[in-house]
Amino acid sequence: MTDIKKLLSQLTLEEKASLTSGEDFWLTKAVERLGIGQARTSDGPHGIRADDYSREDHATMPAVCFPAAVTTAASFDREMLRELGEELGRECLAYGVDVLLGPGINIKRSPLCGRNFEYFSEDPYLAGQLGEQFVSGVQSQGVGTSLKHFFANSQETRRFTSSSDIDERAIREIYLAAFENVVKKAQPWTVMASYNKINGTYSTANRYYIDEVLRREWGFEGLVVSDWGATHDRVGAIEAGTDLTMPAEKHSDRWIVDAVKSGRLSEKALDRCCERVLRLVEKAEKGRVKGAVCDKEKAHALARKFAANSLVLLKNDGGLLPLKKTDKVAFIGAFAEKPRLQGGGSSHIREIKITGALEAAKEAGISVTYAAGYDRDSGETTDALIKEAIAAAREAEKAVVFIGLPDSYESEGGDRRHMRLPEGHNRLVAEVCAANPDTVVVLHNGSPVEMPWIDSPKAILEAYLGGQAVGGAEVDILFGDVNPSGRLAESFPMRLEDNPSYLWYFGEGDRVSYNESIFVGYRYYETKKLDVLFPFGYGLSYTEFEYSDLELDRSEMTEDDELNVSVKVKNVGRTVGKEVVQLYVAPQKGMAIRPVRELKEFVKIELKPGETEAVKFTLSKRAFAHWSAESHGWEAERGVYGIEICRNAHEVILEEKVRML
Ligand code: BGC
Repeated sequence: MTDIKKLLSQLTLEEKASLTSGEDFWLTKAVERLGIGQARTSDGPHGIRADDYSREDHATMPAVCFPAAVTTAASFDREMLRELGEELGRECLAYGVDVLLGPGINIKRSPLCGRNFEYFSEDPYLAGQLGEQFVSGVQSQGVGTSLKHFFANSQETRRFTSSSDIDERAIREIYLAAFENVVKKAQPWTVMASYNKINGTYSTANRYYIDEVLRREWGFEGLVVSDWGATHDRVGAIEAGTDLTMPAEKHSDRWIVDAVKSGRLSEKALDRCCERVLRLVEKAEKGRVKGAVCDKEKAHALARKFAANSLVLLKNDGGLLPLKKTDKVAFIGAFAEKPRLQGGGSSHIREIKITGALEAAKEAGISVTYAAGYDRDSGETTDALIKEAIAAAREAEKAVVFIGLPDSYESEGGDRRHMRLPEGHNRLVAEVCAANPDTVVVLHNGSPVEMPWIDSPKAILEAYLGGQAVGGAEVDILFGDVNPSGRLAESFPMRLEDNPSYLWYFGEGDRVSYNESIFVGYRYYETKKLDVLFPFGYGLSYTEFEYSDLELDRSEMTEDDELNVSVKVKNVGRTVGKEVVQLYVAPQKGMAIRPVRELKEFVKIELKPGETEAVKFTLSKRAFAHWSAESHGWEAERGVYGIEICRNAHEVILEEKVRML
């Protein structure tokens, strides 16, 4: 173990300042004189986007592209996120990466955010639970993570200058809660301070949230790194506790030296940051494994398994799915050949290969016909492409149309302005459905879309951005080798205008008011009783589950007690399947202003036909509490709370009540 204090005492002021910014785009700085090495960061997080330092052009190395966060979140599967993290950790070791820059756990405030595909959910509990497993998984391999973007980075428009103006309660309940859980439970090596301001102060200079909340209140032990280029004031960043500014910022290291010399910055504050950089480097060096390799074929198979566990069956009238392998099936749409795997921007992985559904069907010995239907890049169609698609649909017994958003629609650095699919895709669906009543739609998108044709196809499968093996997962589900078990980790509104942030989303100038406060996603739709296209938590299966015997171990409790909940779930269908058991807490009216229900527990279980499992949950104070802006703390108000077992945020199956004394 390095004696960090001793090292610190040997560093000159200039060297200390130099340690608080990067060497280049990814590396921290070395101090050769003292044998201080470098930590290497790299994007992801749904794969490794590492530069090849052995080449002059530092070209990005190809790596397995796993499903993006929007997809893995729909698995509602903690174990899967852990397994994904472990695999990414192993790959980091093989690629020489010490810190993987993720996961992104920002809350989806609006379907328009251009980076929604990189984030898990509109629900902080779900995002926090999945983030915790991801971080624990990566870090179990001796590799670090960077929990990002801390916080309230909910739009790309003017992301470098805008201020997210949010009330204290929404900050705590919605925008910080996921970070809080991951920090407390998984101790990420680093947390990344976001580009935006929070209530007027840049995140990287926000001493209250970094020092008071993250470090003192939650006990964060790691390093805070700026998002790339998010530090505007090097001295202010050090004072606030942003230890490392990335990427390279050599010219401004001098400002820190001057500030210490002139007494504007205490050397102690600088020492604290240096110490954390040194600890990070120490951990990085300790974690490295010489000669580590990863098995890319195995990883590709894992990517397929993860996608298959995450895709969401949205509609299946008359049990059209699963298709029979002997059916005469037409695959229509360019995404069947080359699917959309991921979104654009810093998370973009140079995938090793792409398996589309067309190729996967062929590999499985299933013969399908194919028509492109539209231009993959623009999304536009032509009369000739439509004619070909109609002919393929007519000749087949069943048609599967692969549509979605082209790459240009979703990327870091920009937000969508609407939720529409390209006109060419909508026209294709309408024409194919008219030609063949047994039509399935498969969607590739990183955020909700409008579906003007929703009544026409008999089945809809949401494939999101499922990574390089997504085609295999689609074939697994379409032909019944895998029973779909994904659940939406976000609401699909009917119209963009229904979204609670709609009136204020992009803000005025640089001020973005979060006037909807805690009413984000289903918290708003359910409380307002607004119809949605598909609710949060929604997803179908090829089997059916019956719930019974919801029991609470007490009818009254104090905030110091735990409440044990059990419920029986039975697979009453004919196929083995996975169910996501969802528990929501519903405070009675007349207490603080609250959403009608909030997700407080969930678990994914697998049941054989006829099998029953007694699922158990334990709830404590936090599951009942709201943040009081008066006492600046969590309060579980007295009164009655519904304990609801739900199929999704809209559909309550069983309910019992407990009184908080
Ligand atoms: C993004 C981060 C990313 C970083 C490094 C920034 O623009 O916001 O998510 O990790 O660049 O590429």
